[in-house]
Amino acid sequence: MSGANTGVSTEVAELEAQVAQLRQQLLQAQKMVSIGALSSSMTHEFNNILMTVINYAKMGLRHKLPAEREKAFEKILAAGQRASRMTTGMLAFARAKGDHREPLNVARLVEDVLVLVEKDLQMHRVRLETHLAPEVYAEINAGQVQQVILNLIVNARQAMSGGGNLTVSVRRSPEENFAEITVRDTGSGIPADKLPHIFDPFFTTKKPDERGQGGTGLGLSLCKQVIDSHRGRVRVESVPGQGTAFTIKLPLAVAPIVHQNAAVKAS
Ligand SMILES: Nc1ncnc2c1ncn2[C@@H]1O[C@H](COP(=O)(O)OP(=O)(O)OP(=O)(O)O)[C@@H](O)[C@H]1O
Ligand SMILES: [Mg+2]
Repeated sequence: MSGANTGVSTEVAELEAQVAQLRQQLLQAQKMVSIGALSSSMTHEFNNILMTVINYAKMGLRHKLPAEREKAFEKILAAGQRASRMTTGMLAFARAKGDHREPLNVARLVEDVLVLVEKDLQMHRVRLETHLAPEVYAEINAGQVQQVILNLIVNARQAMSGGGNLTVSVRRSPEENFAEITVRDTGSGIPADKLPHIFDPFFTTKKPDERGQGGTGLGLSLCKQVIDSHRGRVRVESVPGQGTAFTIKLPLAVAPIVHQNAAVKAS
């Protein structure tokens, strides 16, 4: 009898391990889809950066005055640094795997996502406003939480088909020990009868857009999974016709010096 029980519990344990692994793979696959969808706007942005570099290099060669040349060098440096931030962010985002968590600067994590989506937002006439408190740390798996933020931003952008305002904020929650990330849009809003279902796997009201983004209904269910595994919370407020705000709360962490440096290096 106990032998049979052991057999069943081994099987259950194996199945649980398989589910965990499949969840991980799903998250990684969804991430790759997001990267694919962003690649066109990022290529545009790279082209703009290269034009800046080329034009200022020409200007520097033409002008002999040290002040003019210095200005050209500064512009080239700034453009190069922006391109480098984009590629580093993209590589770190694509690479990050596993379940490892560490205390990270939340504003910096959000900025690393924003650098990937800025051009995409601009192309869809979405104005970005940020309020990022600098010294908020949470115990985070960087790749997973970046994917959550990206999913919320893509949803917000898709809800503002005619353009609008996106506000992304990071702050320390006033009443509790949480780091709060809010993504607020001025889009279509969510009707009250749909609201209870938005976190369900495969619930969607969308068809894929012109670049294949949207429409699987997995984005928010993955967000919920990631936030639950971080012992965090998700809250949504929405007014149909006016907009939606998603707030995620993650338990605060203290910032050890060594991790702070690691976070700086990663970006
Ligand atoms: N910011 C938002 N504004 C309006 N509706 C939203 C917003 N975010 C989510 N929704 C609604 O919730 C549904 C589920 O969102 P979810 O991200 O899970 O799936 P999806 O965006 O439809 O597809 P995908 O799997 O590609 O993300 C959406 O189809 C949409 O109806
Ligand atoms: Mg989505």
